[in-house]
Amino acid sequence: MTDVLRAPKGTFDTLPPDSERFLAVRDALVAPLRRAGYGYVETPVFEETAVFSRGVGESTDVVTKEMYTFDDRGGRSLTLRPELTAGLVRAFIEHRLHTGALPVKLWTVGSAFRYERPQAGRYRHFTQVDMEALGVDDPALDAEVVALGVQGFRDLGLTDFELLLTSLGDATCRPQYRELLVEYLAELDLDDDTRRRAEINPLRVLDDKRPEVQAQLDDAPLMVDHLSDSTRAHYDAVRQHLTDLGVTWSEAPKLVRGLDYYTKTTFEFVHHGLGSQSAIGGGGRYDGLSAALGGPDVSGIGYAVGVDRTLLAVQAEGLDVVARTGVQVFVVHLGAEAKRVAVRLVGRLRQAGVAADTVYGDRGLKGAMKAADRSGASHAVVIGERDLADGVGQLKDLRSGEQRAVPVGELFETVRATVGG
Ligand code: HAM
Repeated sequence: MTDVLRAPKGTFDTLPPDSERFLAVRDALVAPLRRAGYGYVETPVFEETAVFSRGVGESTDVVTKEMYTFDDRGGRSLTLRPELTAGLVRAFIEHRLHTGALPVKLWTVGSAFRYERPQAGRYRHFTQVDMEALGVDDPALDAEVVALGVQGFRDLGLTDFELLLTSLGDATCRPQYRELLVEYLAELDLDDDTRRRAEINPLRVLDDKRPEVQAQLDDAPLMVDHLSDSTRAHYDAVRQHLTDLGVTWSEAPKLVRGLDYYTKTTFEFVHHGLGSQSAIGGGGRYDGLSAALGGPDVSGIGYAVGVDRTLLAVQAEGLDVVARTGVQVFVVHLGAEAKRVAVRLVGRLRQAGVAADTVYGDRGLKGAMKAADRSGASHAVVIGERDLADGVGQLKDLRSGEQRAVPVGELFETVRATVGG
């Protein structure tokens, strides 16, 4: 016998009924975006590698260690997207969307791939809901974006989450701040690896979780204390708008994101019931991304929420996010003639918008009733040989157990009226 094949390491299958919860979470995260005028975009799951090396940044772990990069049969270097923003901005440029009305508001949802060390909440294949607002640099837009992220979590009923917010400055103030930080880090007692990391991206050291490193960072210079006047005014205005929108946040001056493109407003959503992989979403403004990808020099802001992690958060809070699973009515039949009646009835019900199913294969009455129970249906229609000879089928309420005979010719209308299709 050949070996049983399994899903690759760091990936998993989502099966019914869990898949219903996945869809409910995904749809709840998307709904606020559609209500706010964001338009759906689909881009390929793989892009030319340069989209990510230039977009996400050569110094990030994502680009140096985590990408699934391969040459196709034509010798092109392609990469499975490790995130969705760079591809969306590539499409924004390619289709010259900046020549239309601004801001250009886009959303998408789909797979992302990172070769990370798998653990609870961290996978090699995961799903993001991603949104971007491009072409306008207005603090009110930053606040809209952040508030829409919060809305998705609230609509799911989540409460144990927190919005971490900071400003990462811009091209006028970040280089000076970076120098200050490099000088500060040079004086510390750091191992060689951390020193190397500090040379590539000193800001990343601020995010080091090890207590011996954190202990030395108490007096580290912070970007928020060294913002230019215009960047400070931008950040103040974002916070004012967030207050107006009823959004609360925690200042996170040491927040460092894993992608290089961020400027100004930067944020993360964390959930407190998830352990070490607590980030359920994150995003920020990116002044240079469009230009880095060969497009116009316009700003953008957006976020991505991890659907898989948000689902874990929903489970951690014990929330029931699925209104109705499975079908509304399940049709059980016995005998060849009853089968024809059943198949026809299910077809008509489905056409009328009622979620209906029936048994296939020879299961016997007991097996068929079990299938009806498992289906999640509130009602079953049982069509047996003897009943059929009398011209009736039984409509059974699976919750109360009550049952009544309905003439075969009236089954469709009666079922439809009962379950409300
Ligand atoms: P990110 O913070 O890298 O940002 O990812 C966003 C979210 O995706 C994370 O908060 C997390 O919930 C989920 N996620 C990331 N990696 C994994 C993983 N290995 N397994 C499971 N879930 C994961 C971005 O991707 C940016 N493109 C967000 C953005 C949009 N910034 C501006 N616009």
